[in-house]
Amino acid sequence: VVAPSSVALSQATVREGIVEFAVGQPDPTLLPAEALGEATRRALQRFGGDAIGYGAESGPGPLIDWLIEHLGRIDARAPSTSELMTTAGNSHALDLVANVFTRAGDVALVEIPTYHLALGILRDRGLELVGVATDGDGLRPDAVRDALSRSRAAGKRVSLLYTIPTFGNPTGRTMPIERRYEIAALAAEHGFVVAEDDVYRELSFGEPAPPSIGALDEGGWVLRMGSFSKSLAPGLRLGWLSGDARRIRAVLDSGLLISGGGLNPITALAVAEFAAAGAYEPNVAHLRETYRSRRDGLIGALREALPDATFDVPAGGYFVWLRLPRGLDSRELRAAAEAAGLTYVPGPAFDASDALDPSWLRLSFARYGSDDLALGARRLGTVVAARR
Ligand SMILES: Cc1ncc(COP(=O)(O)O)c(C=O)c1O
Repeated sequence: VVAPSSVALSQATVREGIVEFAVGQPDPTLLPAEALGEATRRALQRFGGDAIGYGAESGPGPLIDWLIEHLGRIDARAPSTSELMTTAGNSHALDLVANVFTRAGDVALVEIPTYHLALGILRDRGLELVGVATDGDGLRPDAVRDALSRSRAAGKRVSLLYTIPTFGNPTGRTMPIERRYEIAALAAEHGFVVAEDDVYRELSFGEPAPPSIGALDEGGWVLRMGSFSKSLAPGLRLGWLSGDARRIRAVLDSGLLISGGGLNPITALAVAEFAAAGAYEPNVAHLRETYRSRRDGLIGALREALPDATFDVPAGGYFVWLRLPRGLDSRELRAAAEAAGLTYVPGPAFDASDALDPSWLRLSFARYGSDDLALGARRLGTVVAARR
C-alpha cells in the first residue's frame, strides 16, 4: 500500500456536491486507461530500447505515418512527412510557434473571446496581446484588418494571430469556409503566422467540421495545431503541428528539440499501437456520442431554468457560452453561484482587451453526466432568479 501523497494527482479541483462547470476537462471514466496500458506494453515489446531512447525530432515514424492518413480523413488535406511533427500537446505547440516566429514586444492578435490559458503562453513570450472582435461565425476578417492597421500605426510588428475556428473555446462557434480562406489570404498579404488551434475538430455532434484554415492555406503562413488531449487523453501530453515544410523545419531546428529529441517518443509509439489496433475511431465515436448527449441534457435544462438567458447550441466541443439576462455581471454572481453549488468561468477571463460584455460566462459539459448538468443548470437558474 502506498501512503497517500500530499501532492495531488490532477490539475483540476473537483469538489463533492458542487457542479464544476468551470472545469473544462473530461470525466476520467472516459479515458481508456486499460487499453492505453496494453498499447504501451505492445510498443515496448515491438521496439524494445528504441522506444525509450531519444526519439526522432519529428516524432516516431509509426505515429507520423498514421497521423498523415488520419488527417487526410478528418481534414481536407493530408500533410506530407516534412509538413508534420509531434508536440507535447497544443499548449506546447503554441509555445514552440511563438518561440520560433515571434519576438518579445511583437503584437499577437487573439479573438475576443479566446481560450484564456493560451493568453498566458503568449504573454510568457513577451507578446503584446490585442483582442479582435468575433461574431456568431467566429473571428471577423474586417476586425483583423483594423487591428493590423492600428498596430502598424502605433509602430508595432504583428507577427502572430491565434485562432480557434472550430468548435471554439469558450464559444463553441465555428468559422465558415469563406472566412477561413480570407484569414489565410490576410496572413499571406500581411506576413503574420496564423496559429490555428484545432483541438476540438473531431468532437463534432452533427456535420463534420469544415476544412482547417491550414488545409486551405496556399501561402504557407498557417500552422495548424492538433492534440490527442480531447480525442484520447490529456495526460498523454501529445499533439502535432502541421504546415509549410520550411516552417516545420525551423521548429525542428529549435534548441529544445535538438537537445532532447522528439517529444514524448514512448507515448507517441503507444498511441500508434492503440491506433493500429483499430481502437482510436471507436474511442472518438464514443466521446462524440457521450458529449452530444451531455450537451443536449445541459441545453434542455438551461432552456427550462434560464428562459431569458442567451446561448447558442454548440455543434461540437466542450462548452456552452451563455449570456446572463438583465445585464447581470458574471463576475459578481460567481460567489452566490458557488454557495448554491456550481462554478463557471466568467466571460472576462477570455478577453485580453477588456472589451467583452461581462454578462457572458462559460459552462463546460465535458465532466458530468446529464443529471448533474441539469442539477447545475437549475442551481444557476435559482441564483439568477434571486437577482430580480
Ligand atoms: C482551445 C484549447 N486549446 C488547447 C487546449 C490545451 O490543449 P493541450 O492539452 O493539447 O495542451 C485546450 C484545453 O482545454 C483548449 O480548450
